[in-house]
Amino acid sequence: MFNIILFGPPGSGKGTQSERLIATYGLKHLSTGDLLRSEIANKTPLGIEAKSIMDKGQLVPDEVVIGMISSALEANPAAKGFLFDGFPRTTAQSEALDKLLRLKNTEIGVVLALEVSEEELVKRLLNRGLTSGRSDDTNESVIRARITEYKDKTTVVANYYSKYDKVVTLKGEGTVDEIFDSLCSEINKRMSSI
Ligand code: AP5
Repeated sequence: MFNIILFGPPGSGKGTQSERLIATYGLKHLSTGDLLRSEIANKTPLGIEAKSIMDKGQLVPDEVVIGMISSALEANPAAKGFLFDGFPRTTAQSEALDKLLRLKNTEIGVVLALEVSEEELVKRLLNRGLTSGRSDDTNESVIRARITEYKDKTTVVANYYSKYDKVVTLKGEGTVDEIFDSLCSEINKRMSSI
């Protein structure tokens, strides 16, 4: 089993690249943002609570997202590996994920961190907000709040995995194809060394 964390700020291209990576490597895509939006679409109590937090650009409580990831791991016992997108976002989430993976006798193989300038992130997300229907993309102050949450609470996740020499930082600007090629080249290197 080979597990990947695709890491980076809001708008860095995690979702875009995840679609291609799962098709190439046959991994199960686990995006906490997508799981939360599905709860919102189904108007579940969890979705209703999460929506008000997401609309402010803040992080949903750790126990909520850890619970969702735990259920998703349980629900996919035959997966060849997982691609985590938008998770973990705090040190507590990283510690919980390590424990959950240990129970399955596996671990994170690599953390691929996409780097994109703040102005490019804002431009991409405002542009997507014109058509995506995502309420957290329509307002620049909410987009900037999401980026601030990332800086304040999520960048530490890269430090957590650096201790284990698992983080590779890549340029997230350029064409989607160029970025995909650089991600694949790092994954292939790590896969061939296990
Ligand atoms: P989430 O859904 O995870 O959103 P995000 O991290 O804000 O990321 P995005 O989906 O906006 O961006 P992305 O990096 O996937 O980029 P994308 O490929 O879409 O989280 C939403 C909210 O849910 C959070 O704010 C939080 O409230 C909550 N949440 C989720 N997970 C949580 C967790 N673990 N803990 C607590 N709360 C959590 O690309 C963006 C745009 O750019 C697209 O339009 C795309 O077409 C374009 N684009 C992509 N690549 C390029 C390129 N190379 N050049 C030009 N444009 C590009």
